[in-house]
Amino acid sequence: MIEQNVQAIVLAAGKSTRLKTGRNKLIEKLCGQPMIVFSTKLLETLKIPTTLVVGHQQELIKKCIDHYNHNVDFVEQDEQRGTGHALHCTKETWQKDHVLILNGDMPLVTPEIIQALYKKHIDSDATISFVMAHNADPSTSYGRIVKNDDDIKIVEAKEFAGDASEHCCINAGIYLIKKVFLEQHIESLEQNETSSEYHITDLVAIASKNNCTISTISAPFDYVRGINNHHELWAAEQIQRSNIIKYWMEHGVRFSVAHNVHIDLDVNIGPGTYVGCGVHILYGSHIGSNCKIHEYSSVEGSEIGNDSHVMPFTIIKNSTIGNHAHVGPFAHIQDGTFIADRAVIGNFVEIKRSTVGADSKAKHLSYIGDAQIGKSVNVGAGTITCNFDGKKKHTTIVEDNVFIGSNNTIVAPVTIEKNSFTAAGSTITKDVPSDTLAIERGTQINKLGYAKKLREDEEEASEPVCKNVNDPRSKTQFMGAVRTTNDPIENDI
Ligand code: UD1
Ligand code: CA
Repeated sequence: MIEQNVQAIVLAAGKSTRLKTGRNKLIEKLCGQPMIVFSTKLLETLKIPTTLVVGHQQELIKKCIDHYNHNVDFVEQDEQRGTGHALHCTKETWQKDHVLILNGDMPLVTPEIIQALYKKHIDSDATISFVMAHNADPSTSYGRIVKNDDDIKIVEAKEFAGDASEHCCINAGIYLIKKVFLEQHIESLEQNETSSEYHITDLVAIASKNNCTISTISAPFDYVRGINNHHELWAAEQIQRSNIIKYWMEHGVRFSVAHNVHIDLDVNIGPGTYVGCGVHILYGSHIGSNCKIHEYSSVEGSEIGNDSHVMPFTIIKNSTIGNHAHVGPFAHIQDGTFIADRAVIGNFVEIKRSTVGADSKAKHLSYIGDAQIGKSVNVGAGTITCNFDGKKKHTTIVEDNVFIGSNNTIVAPVTIEKNSFTAAGSTITKDVPSDTLAIERGTQINKLGYAKKLREDEEEASEPVCKNVNDPRSKTQFMGAVRTTNDPIENDI
């Protein structure tokens, strides 16, 4: 029913001056999702046709909406003259019997709140219905609901001189108004003396004066928090994040230090998975079941199979890790890398735009870029693929069962065919056929006894000038230690 006789208008044109970034606050993200998208998603869930009032940096708002493929119309408010003026700009779009108006800066509103408002509005045949919440804090910047006998009005924080604990209901910024009332009275909104803006909230006083029915519903304050500054943005994101973590806890995920973990919306985590302290699992990531994501690792836009371990301080971005794989600590996997099942990627290994086959290992200090590593390959410590010649990137192919010795430099484009060995310290510039041992090293020369001679020469040259420990010229007079510090305190010890 709600989708049949209600249309929605979201106010998103404001300058966001209190955020002090110069940007429209509605593109700021909470748990990976821009603020404005929370409103459009909510209305999409409720199937209510939606118009967005845009103005300040409207191209950024439109880009966000495009990205999420939300079907909304736009109306421009070219000069930001207040919430009442923003609503006025949408006059031509009013078609349905009831117009639902939402501030764009309240990301935590739930469909249940809108449904409860609609029910109350219809049941009481109200002209205006709006959402309020309890908040007795006098320092908040919300409009307060002031009732005197039959009169009801919303007084903005800047003009409110009363006792906040007495008038402890604030205006949430969600209104459901009969179209006929709007058409009759929108023109009678006057400029506010303090702000010089047109306030949507004055419609409540106008309805009251005209003895129209005004209905309200109460919502928990946390769900209707408006975001004007960075502190409010942080507080709302904490609530959102805590809801996400609670959801995953209920689905079998263990968090060792839940308050120190960041999980975005649109992330999936399988049951039995453990998430350590300081872990970030960001937008679009899917973690399988029974994984361990250890402390201070970050997984973004990536997929991790089941039973895999991501060791501490590892970064995985836009990549895929298979089942039963081990990555890290201190590994960096990025740009479309694919690590297959049971592969082991160890500490200080960077892998970019590459595939690593099943059961392969690169356990220490390597760079693998633009490489296709086959199955059961051993990449020795310190191996580097030289993929960039200064102009172009080239591919390294390492086929199945190859053993690459430590400290190899593999200059791409090059192929090492299956079952081959490369000796430690080799610089591989030519293709290696299968079943071959490739060695590329300088010849070692052993000069017998030469080290001993060098040591003796050195000892002779460093004989002390004075061997008497009591002699003030002796370097070793302070219990054998040569004191070099100029610090007076240090010298007194
Ligand atoms: C508003 C209400 C206040 C309520 C609070 C709830 C008014 C006058 N005051 O105050 O009673 O308690 O929300 O959070 O409405 N906008 C435009 N065009 C404009 C001005 C604003 O589109 O010319 C948009 C903003 O982008 C924002 C929304 O309207 O999304 C609300 O504006 P904001 O400045 O945040 O209003 P508050 O001062 O918070
Ligand atoms: Ca606000």
